[in-house]
Amino acid sequence: MNFKLTEEQKMIQQAAKDFAERELLHDVIERDEKSIYPTEAMKKIVDLGFIGMMTDPKWGGGGMDTICYVLAMEEISKIDSSVGVVLSVTNSLVIWGIETYGTEAQKEKYLRPLATGEKIGAFLLSEPEAGSDATSQHTTAEDKGDYYLLNGTKNWITNANCASTYIVIAQTCPEKKHKGINALIVDKNTPGITLGPHENKMGMRSSDTHSVMFNDVKVPKENRIGENGFGFTFAMKTLDGGRIGIAAQALGIASGAFERALKYSKERKAFGTEICNHQSIAFKLADMAVKIENARNLCFKAAWLKDQHLPYAVASSMAKLYCADIAMEVTTEAVQIHGGYGYVKDYHVERLMREAKLTQIYEGTSEVQKIVISRAILKG
Ligand code: CAA
Repeated sequence: MNFKLTEEQKMIQQAAKDFAERELLHDVIERDEKSIYPTEAMKKIVDLGFIGMMTDPKWGGGGMDTICYVLAMEEISKIDSSVGVVLSVTNSLVIWGIETYGTEAQKEKYLRPLATGEKIGAFLLSEPEAGSDATSQHTTAEDKGDYYLLNGTKNWITNANCASTYIVIAQTCPEKKHKGINALIVDKNTPGITLGPHENKMGMRSSDTHSVMFNDVKVPKENRIGENGFGFTFAMKTLDGGRIGIAAQALGIASGAFERALKYSKERKAFGTEICNHQSIAFKLADMAVKIENARNLCFKAAWLKDQHLPYAVASSMAKLYCADIAMEVTTEAVQIHGGYGYVKDYHVERLMREAKLTQIYEGTSEVQKIVISRAILKG
């Protein structure tokens, strides 16, 4: 693995940084406070080509590697991880899933408008009683011959309102347990779909999160991804890549908080000197820097394995687990370094701390990552 970034990777990193500082920073606090979706910024992100950035150019994508994606996710999430999660879900879960397992007809109809950023995607797996225990799907996709009839409720769905294309995981044959689950591509405007209210979240408040209800929703058979019963494996494989995106998001939250704490520690004076000159602060900064460096290495390794077409499921779980956990630790220390200023909104670090918490929960809690990692270790 080469740690030196290519010219293209450096260019993407710089473009994401410039975009986040120019388009996201000025109103991120207000959007967080009022839970406002970043509509204008999302239009500009499409112009930059960050939606569909890893997709084959033949479908309208950017054809970039996963390292480019990690770099963009980190830079954007340093400033606004609500935008990071829109990118992550659309690129890693929806676009990748259809590009890798979809039919040519599905790609023409659904992948192309996603890869060009004309449409946004959402991935509907979680349910009121199926979060970590993802095999326990209660949403049903009854086989009616040439269509499936969808009924049930999905919870905490990122992009539920802004997306046009859903991938819905649902149970067709409960007696077959996880082998009876299917993944269906569903147009959001299909009759019978309703959304719950916008969730009033602790952090990432300007990302668009709702529950989604399906009441006798007809989905054409040709919208099933893969063979009958492939849905659970599809979801797991898709999440393997999704976790790299969330790891990069958590890394961005941590490095954003670190940069702010470092700057503040060089400006703020106490006991006759800048606080960075006190060992109690300098050692905190050293610990934070080491954690971020380790997190970045795990993230890059998972991305690199994926780009080399080598197994990356365990590496992505390790990256997601570690990046999310250190994001929580680093943001907490960043608040501490800021003292009272850290506890109010203007300095951003309290927001970053709230955002870090979600990275330990979605796309598999930290405990789920430990299940994946420990099973792999024990299997040898
Ligand atoms: N790749 C391929 N197949 C896989 C796999 C993978 N990574 N992981 C599991 N499988 C297969 C297994 O091989 C097994 O197949 P067989 O029966 O043929 O052997 C089958 O799937 C069942 O696997 P397990 O026995 O391991 O299943 P389990 O019930 O023990 O669960 C789990 C394992 C890791 C806990 C899994 O349920 C899981 O990942 N849960 C968390 C779900 C999650 O991440 N949800 C996030 C929602 S999406 C989201 O947050 C998006 C958003 O909006 C931000």
